[in-house]
Amino acid sequence: MRKVAIIGGGNVGATCAYQLASRDAADVAVYDIVEGVPAGKALDMTQVGPVFGFDARVTGSHEVDVIAGAEVVVVTAGFPRKPGMDRMDLLKKNADIARASGEAIRRYAPDSVVVTVTNPLDVMTWVVQQATGFEPSRVVGMAGVLDSARFATFIAMELGASAKDVRAMVLGGHGDSMVPLPRFSTVNGVPITELMPADRIASLSDRTRNGGAEIVKLLGTGSAFYAPGASAALMVEAILGDTRRLVPASAWTGGAYGLDGVYIGVPVQLGASGVHKIVELELSADEKAALERSAATVAQGIADVKALSA
Ligand code: NAI
Ligand code: 2OP
Repeated sequence: MRKVAIIGGGNVGATCAYQLASRDAADVAVYDIVEGVPAGKALDMTQVGPVFGFDARVTGSHEVDVIAGAEVVVVTAGFPRKPGMDRMDLLKKNADIARASGEAIRRYAPDSVVVTVTNPLDVMTWVVQQATGFEPSRVVGMAGVLDSARFATFIAMELGASAKDVRAMVLGGHGDSMVPLPRFSTVNGVPITELMPADRIASLSDRTRNGGAEIVKLLGTGSAFYAPGASAALMVEAILGDTRRLVPASAWTGGAYGLDGVYIGVPVQLGASGVHKIVELELSADEKAALERSAATVAQGIADVKALSA
C-alpha cells in the first residue's frame, strides 16, 4: 500500500484520512501536536476496515517522523480565527505552523508532493513551499475543488438537477475575492448561462463566495470539514494515480494569466509531480479583472507574512 501523510489531525485532517482509507487509496499517517488523539482516531478509522471492507491502515502520532517516506503530504495544521484575534494574529500563528510543517516535510518526506489546506489558503501554500524548498509545482493548495463543489451543489439545488451531472469552475483566491465562472459551469455540458437567468446565477455565485462563512455561522464553533476533507482527498488521489485530472487549485502561476509572484486558484492538471500543467482559459475582461483583484489580495497577504517574519 502507498503512503500519504497528513499534518494536523483535526476535523479536516481526520476527515481526509478517513476518506482516503475508506477508498483504499493509501495507508495514511496522521501527525498532530496533540498526544493520544491522532493515534486514537487512527485506530478507530482502521477498525472500519472489516465493516466497510478496506485494507488501508491509518496510523496517528504526535511524533513527526510518522510522516517519513510519504508520497503525498496534506497540510491541515492550523487554527481558525478566535474572538479577540485579528487577521494579522491569525496570519502569524498559521504561518508559523505552516513553516514548521514545511520544514518537517523537507526533512522526512523530501520526495513528496504537498497539498496545503491551512488558511489563509493561497498565502499558506506559499509559506509551505518556501519552507520545503520544493519546486513550486510540487506544492499545491486545495480550495478551488471545494469552492467549485459548493457552486455545483447550489446549481444542482436550484435546477433540481443531479449533483452528478454538475461541473462548476471557481478560480481566484480562497476568500471573498474568489471568481466563480458561470460560462465554464455546466449541467452535463450545458452551460448554466443557458439554464437560468443572470440574477439567479449572481445569487448562487454570492452564496458560493460566502460558502465557508455560511457553515461557520451554522456550526457555531469551527468550520466545514466534510467537503474540505473530500476535496483534499480527491487531489491526493489524482496525484497518486498520475491521472492528470483538471481541477481548480492554488498554483504558482509563474506568468500564466499574466500573474506572477503568487499562488492563486487556476485550472490545473494534477499528476505525479504535482501541478503537471496550468490550463489557460480565454477569460473575458471582467473575469480577468476579478482574477487580478483576487491575486492582489493574495500578494498583500504574502507581503504581510514577509513583514511579520522580517
Ligand atoms: P481543527 O482545529 O479541527 O484542526 C487543526 C489541527 O491542527 C488541530 O488538531 C491542532 O492540534 C493541529 N495543529 C496545530 N499546530 C500544529 C502543528 N504545528 N503540527 C501539527 N498539527 C498541528 O481545524 P480544521 O477544521 O481541521 O481546519 C484546519 C485548517 O484548514 C484551518 O486553518 C482551516 O481554516 C483550514 N480550512 C481550509 C479550507 C480550504 O478550503 N482551504 C477548508 C476548511 C478548512
Ligand atoms: C471554508 O471555506 C473555512 O476555508 C474554510 O469552509
